[in-house]
Amino acid sequence: METVIKTRNLSKRFNETVALDSCSFTIKKGEVFGYLGPSGAGKTTTIKLLSGQLHSDQGEIEVLGKSPFDETIKEKIGIMSDNSGLYEKATVYDNLKLFAEIYRLPAERIDQVLHDVGLYEEKKKSVEKLSKGMKQRLIFARTILHGPKLLFLDEPTANLDPSTAEEVRDLIRQMKENGTTVFLTTHNMEEADEMCDRIALLNKGHIIECGSPYELKLKYAKKQVQVTSNMGKESLTLAKSALIDYLQKCEEIIMIHSIEPSLKEVFLTLTEEGR
Ligand SMILES: Nc1ncnc2c1ncn2[C@@H]1O[C@H](COP(=O)(O)OP(=O)(O)O)[C@@H](O)[C@H]1O
Ligand SMILES: [Mg+2]
Repeated sequence: METVIKTRNLSKRFNETVALDSCSFTIKKGEVFGYLGPSGAGKTTTIKLLSGQLHSDQGEIEVLGKSPFDETIKEKIGIMSDNSGLYEKATVYDNLKLFAEIYRLPAERIDQVLHDVGLYEEKKKSVEKLSKGMKQRLIFARTILHGPKLLFLDEPTANLDPSTAEEVRDLIRQMKENGTTVFLTTHNMEEADEMCDRIALLNKGHIIECGSPYELKLKYAKKQVQVTSNMGKESLTLAKSALIDYLQKCEEIIMIHSIEPSLKEVFLTLTEEGR
């Protein structure tokens, strides 16, 4: 499959602060790639490097086969970060019109995107009258207005209530369905687990693991089951002989549950190891 982003040994410092240290990863076309890490881990810095907003100190970056500073890249990528920059007094439509003009897009494109994000009915409303979810969808509409092939979403669901966050996730799913590649940063492990094809776990500028959520959970799983029997509830490791011994001692087995590790546990395990 086509490679959309490729980095090798990417590093960035701000004076004494090491924001990123030798990060390497590859993202394929159509993937939702989760970039996970606590505050200060280096997520936003990575997006700025990948989108040509910042120069790296070291390392290589290829975005859509080019340097992020290539003039043709800007029209192929969309960036959504926390500084909304919406004009509160202007209408939904006029907010987008401004960007349509910058990108020299036909006016019909605005209506099309408004339909896509479910804001068409709101097009004449001023932004200050919109709900938080609608505003977030408008920011999303602006991000995808020019039809980017690659999206950088910097914590798009941070500080949102659960239903607004779900609205944003629906839009991301929609983008994935039409083949857009998504670079998604989040510190919400459950969200990453649900949304992402692959994730990189970032801590203090280092990528400490990379893989599909399933692979990572399997790799760091405690591999336990919980058995409820006439003898009560017991957590057992999946060692065959111990498990058989225990089951033979029970008169009645009521339930057996596998204990699924969460990505959060994986992350805590890895960071506690002090890597
Ligand atoms: N412009 C800057 N000047 C100085 N330090 C910065 C700057 N931008 C980021 N940093 C530092 O780099 C580190 C990574 O920051 P950032 O990429 O914003 O993390 P995240 O987005 O994961 O919260 C932090 O220690 C942060 O304080
Ligand atoms: Mg950030």
